[in-house]
Amino acid sequence: MESVSENDFRDTLARWPSGVTVVTARAGDTPIGITVASFSSLSLDPPLVLVCIARSAQSHDGLVGAPGFAIHVLGASQEEMSALFARPGADKFGAYGDERGPFGVPLLPFGVARLVCERYAAHDGGDHTILVGRVVSVEHAGTDPLLYCNRAYGRLSPSV
Ligand SMILES: Cc1cc2nc3c(=O)[nH]c(=O)nc-3n(C[C@H](O)[C@H](O)[C@H](O)COP(=O)(O)O)c2cc1C
Repeated sequence: MESVSENDFRDTLARWPSGVTVVTARAGDTPIGITVASFSSLSLDPPLVLVCIARSAQSHDGLVGAPGFAIHVLGASQEEMSALFARPGADKFGAYGDERGPFGVPLLPFGVARLVCERYAAHDGGDHTILVGRVVSVEHAGTDPLLYCNRAYGRLSPSV
């Protein structure tokens, strides 16, 4: 069986465009959060979504073990927030208040949408864990999304 080189694999996947989310939860009393592009809808009934969390992320055990988590879909002006939550282990919540939602999830400003989820399942995904949440609340605003493709941020161009 042939196998692809890690660089080819990464470079190929990098060409897949996505939105950007920040996923938050609470580990004990400590807020944790991480920038995540691997967000997907999964099921309508029950209402399920999934995110894939790297086992190497410092927040992995806290996110996967939490009773619930919040997914913030970032708006086009939230690039700075994406970069902040992509820093390993940094104190990421200093600039934000201590607003809490169901399950104590830290609530952050969102440009596009915010989904609060109850932990539904966690599956093995190689060096990631596939974390499935049952959506218990949704809010959305009308802002354009922040995009990510080819290792760079972008935004929708207005159609002419
Ligand atoms: C645009 C973007 C998308 C990312 N998507 C994911 C993802 O889907 N899953 C993941 O585990 N890490 C993802 N990361 C990397 C994490 O945000 C990064 O490893 C972070 O430092 C982890 O924080 P922690 O070590 O404090 O938990 C992404 C980073 C960026 C910039």
